[in-house]
Amino acid sequence: MTTIGQDIEYAVKLLRAGEVVGIPTETVYGLAGNAFDPSAVAKIFQVKQRPSFDPLIVHTSSLDKVEKFVSEVPEKAYKLAHEFCPGPLTMLLPKLPVIPDLVTSGLPRVAIRIPNHPLAIELLNALEFPLTAPSANPFGYISPTSAKHVHDQLKDKIPYILDGGSCKIGIESTIVGFEKDKTIIYRLGGITVDTIKKVIGEVSVNTHSASNPSAPGLLKSHYSPRKKVVLGNPNSLIDTYPHLKIGVLSFQSTFNQIPEDHQFMLSGEGNLEEAAQNLFAALRRLDNLPIDIIIAEIFPKKGLGLAINDRLKRAAAE
Ligand code: TXA
Ligand code: MG
Repeated sequence: MTTIGQDIEYAVKLLRAGEVVGIPTETVYGLAGNAFDPSAVAKIFQVKQRPSFDPLIVHTSSLDKVEKFVSEVPEKAYKLAHEFCPGPLTMLLPKLPVIPDLVTSGLPRVAIRIPNHPLAIELLNALEFPLTAPSANPFGYISPTSAKHVHDQLKDKIPYILDGGSCKIGIESTIVGFEKDKTIIYRLGGITVDTIKKVIGEVSVNTHSASNPSAPGLLKSHYSPRKKVVLGNPNSLIDTYPHLKIGVLSFQSTFNQIPEDHQFMLSGEGNLEEAAQNLFAALRRLDNLPIDIIIAEIFPKKGLGLAINDRLKRAAAE
């Protein structure tokens, strides 16, 4: 049986024993294990049913510790770290042998993140090893933003979920890598492209979809409800499906043609931060309604709207 609580000492005990534990972060909940212990890492892949070609992020509590896991931290990485760590930023850095190959799926770089959540930080400070953690959803499904979401899907597979409330950011971290002089964003996330540009200048964005193992993290279909998702302008899409029961996910509009309880408006005030925070919980609720199809609106193509559209596109991919 899985228990849910706020007992850091219990989580520490389980993690030291090689168990995996659900943990809160400011972005989404993670499924955490000892990053130095290949058998704990293998357990994460197994519980999540994640293919071993898709590498994991290593979480730690300070920049000093990061330096023990990687061989080099470029100047731009320091700049970003000083600005955004702890926070929803993940950096790909050349790994040292102390990080098992299983964590990086054999890749030479390791993804590192310092999460900004009081319970996660307290937990990481109490441990003598970093925690590797993917989002705590079964592979391909919507990421969890509450302890209940984790419990709904992974109960009986993990002993404990540390409950840190609802995630404040609501979408995953932004993933950044460095190649020679170039900075590349591989996943849009909680820190916007423009915010990153303000700190280090020009960056390129390379989040194109792929369904092959050589491009981990960019799987075309991901964040997917069981229900079919179509993305576009709800007003015109609603008429396209006259015989289906429709649910709608929108930014700040409601639609008279659809029953009120089948609509989820993410931010009445048109605030993209608020919309991101509500996104995954709304998708989960829509997925559990007696409807045939989810129609999702395209969000404004700026700020966090870009990351929201990225998640919706992958949710809609076959
Ligand atoms: O906000 C987050 O980043 C959350 C919380 C729990 O920290 N974690 C998360 O992990 O989203 P996950 O495993 O669901 O997504 C991590 C992404 C994957 O798409 C993976 O392919 C990519 O990061 N990734 C991890 N290590 C990598 C590496 N060494 N090289 C390239 N991509 C990597
Ligand atoms: Mg994930």
